[in-house]
Amino acid sequence: TNDNFILAIESSCDETSASIIVDGKVLNNIVATQSVHEKYGGVVPELASRAHQENLIPVVQEAVLSAGITLDQLSAVAFTRGPGLMGSLLVGVSFAKALAFGRNIPLIEVNHMQAHILAHFIDDPKPNFPFICLTVSGGHTQLVLVKDYLDMEVIGETKDDAVGEAFDKTAKLLGLPYPGGPLIDKYAKEGNPKAFKFPVTRMPSLNYSFSGIKTAVLYFLREQLQENPKFIEENLPDLCASIQWTLIEMLQIKLKEAVKQYGVSEIAIAGGVSANSGLRKSLQELADKRGWNLYIPKFEYCTDNAGMIAMAAHYKYLAGEFSSYDVTPLAKMKI
Ligand code: KG4
Ligand code: ZN
Repeated sequence: TNDNFILAIESSCDETSASIIVDGKVLNNIVATQSVHEKYGGVVPELASRAHQENLIPVVQEAVLSAGITLDQLSAVAFTRGPGLMGSLLVGVSFAKALAFGRNIPLIEVNHMQAHILAHFIDDPKPNFPFICLTVSGGHTQLVLVKDYLDMEVIGETKDDAVGEAFDKTAKLLGLPYPGGPLIDKYAKEGNPKAFKFPVTRMPSLNYSFSGIKTAVLYFLREQLQENPKFIEENLPDLCASIQWTLIEMLQIKLKEAVKQYGVSEIAIAGGVSANSGLRKSLQELADKRGWNLYIPKFEYCTDNAGMIAMAAHYKYLAGEFSSYDVTPLAKMKI
């Protein structure tokens, strides 16, 4: 057949993933999550690289098998070039290069942050250009003006921690295992978001800062625990709800400003933190109130996955944007 099957690999952090896309349709999205990091309270880079080495071929085999194809039917191999952990990226890049070289097919590099945004084109409804995307993950927090599939401009971003980091680090202070974001989300559902007040940091222009809340929560807990050693266990839902409320408030303030500044009412969210149910709910309420069209990806396409890499690869394939075989990964990579 003449179908253009592309294999996409994602290995930028602690998720090993493979996906097959054919003519713009994502056929599957196989993800191996690394649980080895839980007991360390964060991703340990060297352990992540080793786990990628272990998981990559099985994940690719599963993707190829479930697509009902063989490796000789591939038209191209795509991979995450960056941003991410160098050791993790190297595993995916080396594999993709070897496969593309061996089969003599093109290699497609993908920017992980662009891919998070292009995850919106996997399923309907799809946003219309131009749209503003709030990309919120464990490593990044960005407001992006998306003019076309491969034409994006960062209009605001965090100057220190990412919002996912703020979730994970405050969760750690509460004694929750890594990654704490989903657990804060879970406990927040039964808590009062106004129970405790943490500072809402306001940065100039459309930028963010999330490092302050970690310190604020640390000092607050230290003080409370001196009087009541059971303070955390007795107030866990209220603490989670209050922390989550503060983070969502900060995200929304700048999003509202960006919408005003750019006069765009097509709004999307992307990245791991867009799985947060409190964020999804309050953004939907805000969108309804202000007449925005809000686009929220399916859960499986919020956190790191190769489906989004495949979607980005599809547009690059159409544009004829291929990489040379001596390409190397980039820990830092601009959109
Ligand atoms: O995009 P992602 O999977 O990986 C990066 O590229 O960083 O994002 C991971 C981040 C972690 O900080 C994790 O705690 C956070 O997304 N996260 C959540 C939720 N699900 C994942 N944070 C808050 N609520 C959630 N439900
Ligand atoms: Zn990500």
